[in-house]
Amino acid sequence: MPTLRAWPRVGTVLRQGPHVALHRSFVERFGRAPERVGHAPGRVNVIGEHTDHNGGLCLPFALPQRTRAAVARRDDATVRVHSAQTGETVAWPLRDAAHCAGWAAYVVGTIAALDPRHGFDVLVDSEVPVGAGLSSSAALTCAVALAVAPTRPPGELLAATMRAENEFVGAPTGGLDQTIALHARAGAALLLDFGASPADRLVRQVPSAVPGHEWWVLDSHVSHELADGGYARRRAECAAAAAALAVDNLSRATLDDVARLTDPVLAARARHVVTENARVRQVVTALEDADASAVGAALTASHLSLRDDFEVSCGELDELVAILLEQGARGARMIGGGFGGSALTLLPEATVEVALSAVLGGFRRRGWRLPTPLAAGIGAGGAGVDPV
Ligand code: GLA
Repeated sequence: MPTLRAWPRVGTVLRQGPHVALHRSFVERFGRAPERVGHAPGRVNVIGEHTDHNGGLCLPFALPQRTRAAVARRDDATVRVHSAQTGETVAWPLRDAAHCAGWAAYVVGTIAALDPRHGFDVLVDSEVPVGAGLSSSAALTCAVALAVAPTRPPGELLAATMRAENEFVGAPTGGLDQTIALHARAGAALLLDFGASPADRLVRQVPSAVPGHEWWVLDSHVSHELADGGYARRRAECAAAAAALAVDNLSRATLDDVARLTDPVLAARARHVVTENARVRQVVTALEDADASAVGAALTASHLSLRDDFEVSCGELDELVAILLEQGARGARMIGGGFGGSALTLLPEATVEVALSAVLGGFRRRGWRLPTPLAAGIGAGGAGVDPV
């Protein structure tokens, strides 16, 4: 696979609008002006789920929704952060970052991981739905990292945001979310190879628009929590399967290898990873050929694999996928870590309204909380920092 070594630098310029409100709230809250605003997007992953922590391939693109962090340096070593979403303000000493908990740990952990010589006042505001499997946490850590350390190389920002999540928050996630939040390109999905060294991880851009079709996300509102155990258990099972096969990671295994695993649970986990990597390659080709049916077929196959082999779906996500397919979707699948969150679907333009109403009708009949539809666009730009 060709590798894009000279990846363009991080940074896009936002319209003025959102900054004006953020600036005003910062002044009201902290009694002085912010120095900078960092911003980073949420993401959808077209395909390649639970492959990042198995040295495999992923194909995410950025959502138009983003998180913004306005910051100003403090003279002491405290982080004082206010969330426009929760209305809470938390003040935390950097030297005790390891004991910070809750949403503020993402912010304090990111700043501590960047090892600054002073603290910051931070105001965060986000359009990315939280707990929806759309990577609100990476949008937050990447926006904060860019705001407090705008001149550090992207590799350092990536390492700090991953450390914040893995060590300070305690969610053992694999890097997909932070990588796309920092490096997304408008109008494209990025093919990422987690089997490559960090410098070679960004393989290439893949067109994410499918003519005559729209990408939609449906937030099931079944909340998932990456730090609560299910995700870590899957990681441990994958590591056990790789150890049983004596490979570095499951992306080095073949289906013949999988057939040698005697433990049916480990075999199923490994089968998901091996087949999912193959589906990523299929979708890259299908997107380049603008072949909507082939894209959709791989998406739906991915859902079945995540449901049956990786066992990270849930009744609401299965129902979402089933209704969407009945209504003419080219394909649909759960996205993100699973155990709740959102489904992604590729809908022919003419079917969008009918399909989304059928989903709402189906959920209403079951007495379930109604999912929230979100137009996913075709790939927004990545994280950046703006002066204010
Ligand atoms: C979460 C994690 C990612 C990735 C996905 C599953 O979003 O943060 O690292 O493992 O789940 O593909």
